[in-house]
Amino acid sequence: MERIDFGWDDFWAEVFRVKFRGSIPGIQQYDEMVVDFCLGALNLGKGKKLLDIACGAGDQSILFAKRGLHVYGFDLSTRLIEVAKAKLTEAKLEIDFSTGDMREIDFASQFDAAVLLSHSFGFFNHDENKRVLDGSFNALVEGGRLLLDLMNPYNLPRFQKTWTKLEGGFLLSEPHVLDAPAGVLRGRPATFIDVANNRMIEMNEDALAGNDIRMYTALEIREMLSQVGFSKTELYGQNKLPKMPYAANSERMVVVATK
Ligand SMILES: C[S@@+](CC[C@H](N)C(=O)[O-])C[C@H]1O[C@@H](n2cnc3c(N)ncnc32)[C@H](O)[C@@H]1O
Repeated sequence: MERIDFGWDDFWAEVFRVKFRGSIPGIQQYDEMVVDFCLGALNLGKGKKLLDIACGAGDQSILFAKRGLHVYGFDLSTRLIEVAKAKLTEAKLEIDFSTGDMREIDFASQFDAAVLLSHSFGFFNHDENKRVLDGSFNALVEGGRLLLDLMNPYNLPRFQKTWTKLEGGFLLSEPHVLDAPAGVLRGRPATFIDVANNRMIEMNEDALAGNDIRMYTALEIREMLSQVGFSKTELYGQNKLPKMPYAANSERMVVVATK
C-alpha cells in the first residue's frame, strides 16, 4: 500500500470537516439544536445580521439563513468555503461565504451577533486569541452579542483512539492530549486508509499545524472579554435548550458577551 501525506485543506478540511463530520450520526439534528440555542441566547429574530466566524463548510450558517437571518460566514479553508458555496446553490439560499482569517476581522459595527461554534476559539497564542475577540467586538453593533461555544476545561470529553468508516476508507484518529502546564489541548496525527485507492494518507506538517487549542477558563475568558470592551458576559452549561447554568461538570462552556 502506498503511503502519502496531505496538507491542511486536503487532509484536515476534507477528511475531518467534510467526510468525518458528515458521517456523525444525528449531526444535522445536533446542528439544529445548536442553532435554536444560539437564536434564543442571542435574542435573534428574522432580518438580523449574523457573522459566522470560522463557519467551516457552512452547516450552521445555512440553518441560520433558513431561520431568516442575513448571514456572513467566513473560514480560513478555501476547500471548506468551496463546499459551503456548493451547499448554498443546492439550498437556494443567499449567504455571503468567503475565505478569511479570524485574526484579521475588519468589519465596523455591522452585525447584530457573531458566533464561534464547535470550539473554534483558542487556536493561537494569547495575543492573537485576544485579537479575535477585538475584531469580533468591532464587528458588532452597540448591544450586539458574541457567542463562543467552547469545551468545558473542567470536564473535557474522554478522547479515545478511534477507527471510523468513512466514504472510501477508514479514519484512525489519535486522542487529543491535554498539556496541563501550557493549558493547551494538543491535536494529534490521524491517518486515512484510502481503501478505494489502495493508499495510506497521513497528515503532513501543514495539516498538523494549528491543531492545538488553548483551554481558557471562564474567569480568563471573562477578563479578556472585558478588556476588549464587552460590558456583560453570561455563561451557559450546554449549547442546546433549555439554557442551563454553567458548572464544573457541564457538557460545554458557552459564553455570551454583550457589547
Ligand atoms: C472546529 S471547526 C468548526 C467549523 C464550524 N464552525 C462548525 O461548527 O462546524 C474550526 C474551523 O476553524 C477554521 N479556522 C482555523 N483557523 C482559522 C482562522 N485563522 N480564521 C478563520 N477560520 C479558521 C477551520 O478551517 C475550521 O473550519
